Amino acid sequence: MESLKLTQRFQQDPISVFRDLAATYGEVVRFNLGGQTVYFLSGAETAAHVLVSKQENYGRVNYPSVDDMIGVALFTASGETWARSRSLAQPMFAARQLPNYADQLVQVAARTAQTWADGPLPREIGMVPAMREMALDGVSRALFGPDTSGHMDAMTAAIRTSETVTGKVLRSPLVLVLNQLPGVGPARAWRMQFRRRAKVQGAAREFDRIIDEIRAKREAQQDPGEDLLGQLLTSRDETTGEPLSRQKIRDEATGYLFAAQDTTGLTLSWLWYRLAAHPEAREKLEAEVDEVLGDRMPTAADADRLQWTRAVVSETLRLHPIVWALDRTAMADDEVQGYRIPAGSRVMVIPPVNHRDTKWWPDPDRFDPTRFLPGNDKGRPRTAYLPFGGGRRICIGMSFAMMEITLATAVLARRFRADLLPGAEVGTHLGVVMAPAGELPMTISAR
Ligand code: HEM
Repeated sequence: MESLKLTQRFQQDPISVFRDLAATYGEVVRFNLGGQTVYFLSGAETAAHVLVSKQENYGRVNYPSVDDMIGVALFTASGETWARSRSLAQPMFAARQLPNYADQLVQVAARTAQTWADGPLPREIGMVPAMREMALDGVSRALFGPDTSGHMDAMTAAIRTSETVTGKVLRSPLVLVLNQLPGVGPARAWRMQFRRRAKVQGAAREFDRIIDEIRAKREAQQDPGEDLLGQLLTSRDETTGEPLSRQKIRDEATGYLFAAQDTTGLTLSWLWYRLAAHPEAREKLEAEVDEVLGDRMPTAADADRLQWTRAVVSETLRLHPIVWALDRTAMADDEVQGYRIPAGSRVMVIPPVNHRDTKWWPDPDRFDPTRFLPGNDKGRPRTAYLPFGGGRRICIGMSFAMMEITLATAVLARRFRADLLPGAEVGTHLGVVMAPAGELPMTISAR
């Protein structure tokens, strides 16, 4: 295989490269990506091997620039430290906690609806920035309650700085080469990028400042609060029984915020695009929202009642899984489907390929939410559908995210429609996450 040509095509449209590779060479493909040997694995069984049955052997790949921003938290840690973070977080994301967050999430969506109603209608908006802003507002309120007001601009700027730098690092051919050089590797290569690193460290300090300020306010009021931060403030370390350190609280809160905002914001953006492209699905969704909600605002319990809306969210995530690669490193030699995977190899499971496997998804490119109606998943293995990953590192915010996206869609769809501008072409941008290319300009109008 001509590796240079493949690297170039990979940068332009990696998903089609992965689909072609799977179709031509099968479920285990070894290839060269910018000088590094990578195993690309597809197929539900192969994914189950890496993510579930042999998961101890496959550690998550970390990005040093993300580690610098977040620190040591559930999202970034491994081994024992990860296990402690996971058991700390589990109760905070349990089903019984969801109603605590639903109120804030619905209020944020209602504010977006009000902003839409306040301007002239119909009018053109960039759906991606609108949904990103709403998602960041939603998750930061679930984390910090109303204390975020006054910090939103600083938070948005810090997050965007970190994302831009990480995107540049991932795309840089020089960094790709440095990462492979003996004696250098990703962590040292990152330390050599002084300017980029200084930017990320500046953004990280901004988070220190914001979280310190909110904590100090709560301590002064002697009220930790019931949101995610409140739960971190009242949690105890499993082993020592001591309250969590200032640094631990800061790192976990930053990690949740990072993992949550772009993923939900971009899923919502793709969802509006899909509703516009599939008017029958949209009409059904509007009818369901009207019937289930009538004139009232949704509560957490409505997220389960809005079955079609939920199915639309799931089908959107099938065709547009924001986290498009589950990136792992093999700790010890292994064998997958008869192929040897040497220790130290990079292994990538690519959800968009699994999500289009005709074995489980007939007519895979068709948008069809009925695939996710109750009972229609019979016989489909769990690893045929991986928008939230799989195994023990499965997204801890999965139920939170499904509730948030379903309720926010219901709040907005009660009053508005969004249509693509005539002739608009919608492409996919693959960076750290899978996003619509550009802002996704759409016309919003009153229903
Ligand atoms: C549509 C929205 C979301 C998508 C598509 C998504 C996707 C994912 C995926 C694929 C992973 C696993 C990555 C891997 O195994 O390499 C993950 C992990 C994670 N997600 Fe989400 N996520 C979403 C929303 C959220 C939300 C709302 C939160 C928190 C409020 C969150 C917090 C996390 C955390 C902390 C992890 C790391 C878990 C661990 O390693 O134990 N995510 N997410």
